[in-house]
Amino acid sequence: MTSDRVAWPRTAGPLVLRQPTSDDLDQVLAWRNDPDVVRWLLRTTVDPEKFRTAWFDSIDDPDQHTAVAVLDGIVVGTGSLDVRDGIGQFDGDVWRGAEGLLGYLIDPAHAGRGYATAVTRALLEIAFADLGLRRVTAECFADNVASWRVMEKVGMRREQHGVRDSWHAELGWVDGYTYAILAEEFAPAP
Ligand SMILES: CC(C)(COP(=O)(O)OP(=O)(O)OC[C@H]1O[C@@H](n2cnc3c(N)ncnc32)[C@H](O)[C@@H]1OP(=O)(O)O)[C@@H](O)C(=O)NCCC(=O)NCCS
Repeated sequence: MTSDRVAWPRTAGPLVLRQPTSDDLDQVLAWRNDPDVVRWLLRTTVDPEKFRTAWFDSIDDPDQHTAVAVLDGIVVGTGSLDVRDGIGQFDGDVWRGAEGLLGYLIDPAHAGRGYATAVTRALLEIAFADLGLRRVTAECFADNVASWRVMEKVGMRREQHGVRDSWHAELGWVDGYTYAILAEEFAPAP
């Protein structure tokens, strides 16, 4: 179970990251399909019931670590870290699940206050300190400046500029960026 390997709740700057309740997901759904949020997401609008089911399934999946970010009782964002194999890892005695793929969302009403940066830093701490991963990646549309600024602020490196590799619901195929960081490169917040 997720909770066996990751100690929830945890602090992320001024926020608390914790596993969601049903009420928390109602709060997320109030802004998750907002045009300002959907515009930059690979998974655009979500069906509320499927969204809820996926979240609760993720809590039981040992390779998915998902949390809501809460400020004074209000859910202002979400964070996710999916554990996966690195290139060349295969079944057998080798160490599995060496990498993480992280993601984050902040309610537009609470954007621009450093919250995504705080959530991302906390997810990297979970990845490297709790789970012992060796590398974490994240992806975004190249035009999503706020998102890649977050990755750069936490020390992630742009490793790929994919030319028209990313499907955008309104614009079609557009450029995407992949960022990454190794465990030994990550400096937790002072
Ligand atoms: C992208 C998103 C996660 C950013 O969250 P946030 O809490 O506002 O991020 P932070 O405040 O931690 O940092 C944002 C940075 O981007 C900068 N920024 C924001 N918009 C910008 C723009 N249009 N041009 C340049 N920089 C921009 C901010 O100034 C800040 O950098 P700074 O601290 O150096 O000034 C949030 O807006 C969001 O969820 N958007 C919709 C969904 C999304 O894009 N998710 C990510 C998918 S990959």
